Amino acid sequence: MGRIELLIGGAVAAAVVLWWLLIRTEGVYLGRGVVIWLYDLYARRYDRIKQYDPVNEDHFLARPVLQRVQHIPAPLVLDVATGTGRLPLALLEQPGFQGRIVALDLSRKMLHIAADKLAPYGDRVVLLHQPAETLPFPDDTFDLVTCLEALEFVMCPVDVLRELVRVLRPGGLLVLTNRQGIDARLMPGHAFSHARFERLLRKELGLLAVDIQPWQVDYRLVWAIKPGYASAAGPLPLDQVWCCPCCGAVAMLPVDTDAHGGWRCLDCEALVPVGADGVIEVGRAAGG
Ligand SMILES: C[S@@+](CC[C@H](N)C(=O)[O-])C[C@H]1O[C@@H](n2cnc3c(N)ncnc32)[C@H](O)[C@@H]1O
Repeated sequence: MGRIELLIGGAVAAAVVLWWLLIRTEGVYLGRGVVIWLYDLYARRYDRIKQYDPVNEDHFLARPVLQRVQHIPAPLVLDVATGTGRLPLALLEQPGFQGRIVALDLSRKMLHIAADKLAPYGDRVVLLHQPAETLPFPDDTFDLVTCLEALEFVMCPVDVLRELVRVLRPGGLLVLTNRQGIDARLMPGHAFSHARFERLLRKELGLLAVDIQPWQVDYRLVWAIKPGYASAAGPLPLDQVWCCPCCGAVAMLPVDTDAHGGWRCLDCEALVPVGADGVIEVGRAAGG
């Protein structure tokens, strides 16, 4: 083989590796910073790329979820890695949904788009700029915890799953997606076969009624219940469930600090600013 052929072969191999690292697996093998940087980069185009259809979202997401929590008049919901607010929007558009939603993501730009779309719903939904790896809520808090199309993009999906289960109340409902198809095989350590995922949920996390259903081309929808029983949390406001990022106390209160306000911890006096779009910027907490 001549030099030119070798160079061309090398360039093609490098292009394939880059395509796999940056496009196919969305930076997950390069670290959390790269994943979030890519989502920030694509945030304004995300909804157009995904082409979520409101009729499908209503039919295949919001209604099935509501049906499974219909025994709770106004559930308290946590949506982890909410992106541009897909799940909160789908639920809040349902006339039958009376609950409250806390939604978080680590891409500030995805949250900005979510804030814009969710503004008409006021304080029925709050948005936190916060990583999925450490959820700032006490154990056994939420009636419903969801994490859609995101587990395969976190550094350690099993650790995040443990966090989701920790903050779900006993008897509460967990709704996840599991990637399938060729993409899943291209993401070793991040995507699971359905059999492995089911084993993980049942055996390692001790969940009940695990149900993996056909859903979209790339994903299955996964339902599971946390064992035990605790009465429904109901539509609690954020200050009753949010732990201070500095001292961990559930003692955050909204305050008027500047044009956009913020949240101050009554215990350690840490201050968490709120962006002009209403997103709570947990990563910018100061003092305490
Ligand atoms: C494919 S999008 C899914 C968004 C939304 N759940 C949906 O179904 O449209 C994946 C989301 O996960 C978020 N994400 C990735 N890693 C994260 C992490 N460690 N903590 C919080 N969010 C994360 C990204 O910023 C992105 O918004």
